Amino acid sequence: MSHFWNRLPRPMKALAPMENVTDTVFRRLIAACGAPDVFFTEFTNVDWMFTNKKLRARSVHRLEYTEAERPLVVQVWGSEPENYFKAAQEMQERGFDGIDINMGCPAPKIRRKLSCSGLIRDPQLAGEIIQATKEGAGPLPVSVKTRLGLDKVITEEWCGFLLEQDLDVLIVHGRIASEMSRFPADWEELGKVVKLRDQLSPRTLVLGNGDVQSLEEIDEKHQRYGVDGVMVGRGIFQDPYLFHPVHRLDRLNEQDKIELLWSHTSLFSQVWGDRKDFNILKKFYKIFTTDFEGHLELREALMKQKDPEGVWEVLRGHQYDVMEEGLPLEKLQELPSLQP
Ligand SMILES: Cc1cc2nc3c(=O)[nH]c(=O)nc-3n(C[C@H](O)[C@H](O)[C@H](O)COP(=O)(O)O)c2cc1C
Repeated sequence: MSHFWNRLPRPMKALAPMENVTDTVFRRLIAACGAPDVFFTEFTNVDWMFTNKKLRARSVHRLEYTEAERPLVVQVWGSEPENYFKAAQEMQERGFDGIDINMGCPAPKIRRKLSCSGLIRDPQLAGEIIQATKEGAGPLPVSVKTRLGLDKVITEEWCGFLLEQDLDVLIVHGRIASEMSRFPADWEELGKVVKLRDQLSPRTLVLGNGDVQSLEEIDEKHQRYGVDGVMVGRGIFQDPYLFHPVHRLDRLNEQDKIELLWSHTSLFSQVWGDRKDFNILKKFYKIFTTDFEGHLELREALMKQKDPEGVWEVLRGHQYDVMEEGLPLEKLQELPSLQP
């Protein structure tokens, strides 16, 4: 079938969905530093969207995006097939490029219910959810992001079942849900998923996920385990330029790191204003305040701030030369210290 996934180069490089990280602001920043082949939204609860106006109003900020973030897959979660159907129809209208069903989130509160990784316990419901989503999605490709099992590795049983659901894409994080992220991801098992795919559903693309930190590792996983693509999550915190073919964060000098930090802060403030908690930004400050004299002291001062104005004052107080409105995003690949 013709959908955007089939047109991506191999190995496909995806930026993982991450709650309170991969919103439209962060995706725009990463698109400007060096875009992956596909972006994912944070997860949106379909049951909230269709049962309660207040909860819906609290969720829809997750669905904001710009053209710079394409192709963009919207990730959804919940328990009711009927709500997945309605959500998939709405996601088509909202112009997303694909829909992904979260069957992997391990949060104990969530997995005790029949949603996210909790669905591993109830393949029948998981199947109904996939079917309902496909019916609502029309021509949009449907994927599932999951893990190797709930309390034990059941790759053949669970991924085999998912591969019988005629999915466009299956994304597997190489861990079980109860492990959270305590042990290394098991890529040997992800290699088994590829073999299962070859037998059961050759048209389904398989992406592996877990502990990958660089383009070289993406190539290595593709070669070694046969996955069509690799999804990268926490690696982006090591380097926002991770998907760029040559640029790397460690080439940035102090001034340019601060330009990046302030551009992010300023865009966050322009897009979200008071709609999102400013403190969400603080986890990103660690990315940019590394490897220069006084970086820890600067980080500490930034962490104490309560709003972008406070951050601006700290940066000015440290004599950094930054524009108040932030550097335009298209300049992020042209920072002086990135030039050869
Ligand atoms: C802060 C954070 C938030 C996350 N939120 C989501 C989410 O909304 N949906 C999802 O499927 N996975 C979510 N994950 C899991 C990641 O998508 C990914 O599967 C996991 O981090 C393993 O990949 P990595 O080793 O490359 O980080 C989240 C992970 C982190 C660290």
